[in-house]
Amino acid sequence: MKVLLVDGTIVGRKTGAVLEQVKMYIQEFQPDMELDILSLADYEHQFVDGRPLGEYNSSMQELARRFNEADGYIIASPIFQGSIPGVLKNTFDLLHPHTMRYKPVSIVANGGTYQHHLVIENQLKPILDYFRSLVTPNYVYTHTSHFDADNNIISEDVHDRLRELARVFVQYAEMSKHLSKETLDQH
Ligand SMILES: Cc1cc2nc3c(=O)[nH]c(=O)nc-3n(C[C@H](O)[C@H](O)[C@H](O)COP(=O)(O)O)c2cc1C
Repeated sequence: MKVLLVDGTIVGRKTGAVLEQVKMYIQEFQPDMELDILSLADYEHQFVDGRPLGEYNSSMQELARRFNEADGYIIASPIFQGSIPGVLKNTFDLLHPHTMRYKPVSIVANGGTYQHHLVIENQLKPILDYFRSLVTPNYVYTHTSHFDADNNIISEDVHDRLRELARVFVQYAEMSKHLSKETLDQH
């Protein structure tokens, strides 16, 4: 099973640091899982405007290919202006609506203010619901104060929540193996 851990920003370090930590915890629960980090900073982004995938640059096509080939995802996002970064939304816009269908997804997010944790509930989850992903009921929101100067997570509570997220994600991944990706409807 191939899992893509998506660092949904092109600036900053904390989002990537949380992703690395999640990767370690998933490995502890399921050493056989193939875990690939995809950093949006490594791609040459173009605005998605509805043209066929083949008309985007090769970097965008590679981005879509990696999403298509994965069996599950950890989506990591910082909070920008009370929302997710444009580059992450643009990436979702690039994907075929079936790309993440019935595949397990867990969310981690990081913000400069505690007040914005509901961005996950109100903005990120609805997008993943549109994709009909199996979104785990638990997500983890971190705040600047949970990190030291080297971006290590210093909050034991955050570590516990990340461990629990990893445990549930592994269970959802198992569940998704038994859920056919074929649909009876045409949507
Ligand atoms: C353009 C921009 C807008 C931001 N807007 C918010 C915001 O609305 N709410 C919030 O909690 N944090 C906001 N932040 C802080 C980021 O969420 C924080 O920097 C991010 O989680 C990553 O941390 P890092 O840059 O130290 O890695 C913003 C940061 C930037 C660069």
